[in-house]
Amino acid sequence: MDHKEHKKNAAKAALEYIEDGVGALGIGTGSTVNELIPLLPDYRDRIDSIVSSSEATTQLLTKAGFEGKSLNEVGNLDVYIDGADEATKHFDLLKGGGGALTREKILAGAARRFICIADETKLVGMLGKFPLPIEVIPMARSYVSRQIIKMRGQPFWREGFVTDNGNEIIDVHNLSIVNPREMETRLNQIAGVVTVGLFAHRGADVLIIGNRKGVKVTQQ
Ligand code: A5P
Repeated sequence: MDHKEHKKNAAKAALEYIEDGVGALGIGTGSTVNELIPLLPDYRDRIDSIVSSSEATTQLLTKAGFEGKSLNEVGNLDVYIDGADEATKHFDLLKGGGGALTREKILAGAARRFICIADETKLVGMLGKFPLPIEVIPMARSYVSRQIIKMRGQPFWREGFVTDNGNEIIDVHNLSIVNPREMETRLNQIAGVVTVGLFAHRGADVLIIGNRKGVKVTQQ
């Protein structure tokens, strides 16, 4: 069994949270969520509306026969299901490897319940080994990078990548993220930063970690 199977285990376990029916469901982005989307048509009757966190996910949802709605139309979400690049047992997440962090953070914020699905390689003691993605307004890229260097991080421009919002991504290596909330707040203060890939102020409510045997579920 490889990581793909572990991701599938996590995705399947997330279905429990839509089994009794959900009003509005938010769907994240990435390879773990991609294991979930093909399973959703069986639950069609239990889902009132779906909001997607990226153009990539919208395409897959369309293929699965779902017409996505905008968050403005739907209002708040009952459940939001998404993956993570790193997760701690304290429900803090590092996200944005796929570059969809801004819409993901908005959907997580608008959700009553945020279910994070991941394979066990994502579970870490401290966030930050995975480079921290930061979405920036294009004209602020160099300025934000200089501010990050002052914080002892090493910024790398994700060259050629444009987010669904028309912005750019800086991946920050070697940041010491001892206090994820504090770091999220600090980075958010830099002018030109749109979104920081730390999901600590609004972390997950439920963590479903897929492994060889099945899943381990923890809740706040
Ligand atoms: C997308 O921007 C990310 O936040 C994803 O949620 C995250 O990278 C997890 O992706 P995988 O499920 O592919 O590991």
